Amino acid sequence: MPVQARTTSILFVCLGNICRSPLVEAVARRRCAEAGLEVVLASCGTGNWHVGKGADSRMQRAAAAAGYDLSLHRARQVESADFLRYDWVLAMDRDNLEALDVVRGGRGARPELFLPWAVVRSPHEFPDPYFGEAAGFQQAVQLAEQGVDGLIARLRGG
Ligand code: 4NP
Repeated sequence: MPVQARTTSILFVCLGNICRSPLVEAVARRRCAEAGLEVVLASCGTGNWHVGKGADSRMQRAAAAAGYDLSLHRARQVESADFLRYDWVLAMDRDNLEALDVVRGGRGARPELFLPWAVVRSPHEFPDPYFGEAAGFQQAVQLAEQGVDGLIARLRGG
């Protein structure tokens, strides 16, 4: 009997799970579907302040303007079982990466920084638009698209 390849699974992680990681998840969901890549995608946050809430309205507006729907997203916090569920756990910045290492407790997928993992040379950390101006949310959409281009190239390359 042929061995069935298991679907790759990726968890994107930021701080609040209301801006960057839900955006990257939505961009990846659409682009992977367009590319015919079967991937399990999800996102969560290292913090618990926004658990159960929808994506930030500013992030939703900027994403919608580029054709990405975040309206169904609900924030959740990372848990240690996530490192056993997902092949890749990709953090948006170094603070998130450090927080993930603590939750992981030495078992399961080793978290990595999303943009370097997606072979984006600069920046290495995904800037947090939460405390900034509207332009930061538009830039976040562009950076998410750049990162997801790299992600697709990486998944296609095996
Ligand atoms: P995210 O952005 O990590 O990209 O979802 C943030 C959301 C909320 C907060 C900080 C960053 N906060 O401090 O509540």
